[in-house]
Amino acid sequence: MRRMLIRLLFVTILCYSALTGAGDKVTTGPLSTYTPELIPEFKQLLKSADLETGKEYFMRKCSSCHDEYYSDTHGKGPNLWNVFGRKAGTAKDFDYSDAMRNSGHTWTWETLNYYLTNTKRAVPGRRMNFRGIKKDKDRAKLLIFLRSMNDNPPSLPK
Ligand code: HEC
Repeated sequence: MRRMLIRLLFVTILCYSALTGAGDKVTTGPLSTYTPELIPEFKQLLKSADLETGKEYFMRKCSSCHDEYYSDTHGKGPNLWNVFGRKAGTAKDFDYSDAMRNSGHTWTWETLNYYLTNTKRAVPGRRMNFRGIKKDKDRAKLLIFLRSMNDNPPSLPK
């Protein structure tokens, strides 16, 4: 009986950590209920990230679904021009998932970084067929490129 209880406890802990994603550096939750922050090390990476390699990364990983320039039409994914500052799921004439449309957050350094780390965790039910970017360095250079895709590129986070 005792052994069974211990086993049950073990399984419960396993399920819990799988569900919450414990073990990730950042604490977790969908963006509809969780407000992520940037750690100082990541802000530092943003400062040294290179725009050109960020663009190369975008062209390799994102451009099959997202254009790198302004367009009022969309590819498989919505046009990302001016995505910084945009309320999620609101580009005109794009057919978003309910999950994205109802997530309620706005795209900032924090929310974009969090989403692009693990898209499913950030917006469960999202329709974007892209899992996420593990390496902080890759996400940092990509974000630097995304910020340049804007009429008024935002300043770096403080
Ligand atoms: C296989 C196609 C595909 C790839 C690859 C892809 N995306 Fe997406 N993306 C989508 C789709 C589809 C959506 C809309 C998701 C929804 O409605 O749930 C989306 C949504 C987004 C959004 C939210 C935009 C908004 O208007 O709210 C961002 C930001 C984004 N993608 C960034 C990226 C970046 C950066 C990359 C490359 C690392 C990338 N995506 C790769 C298809 C893709």
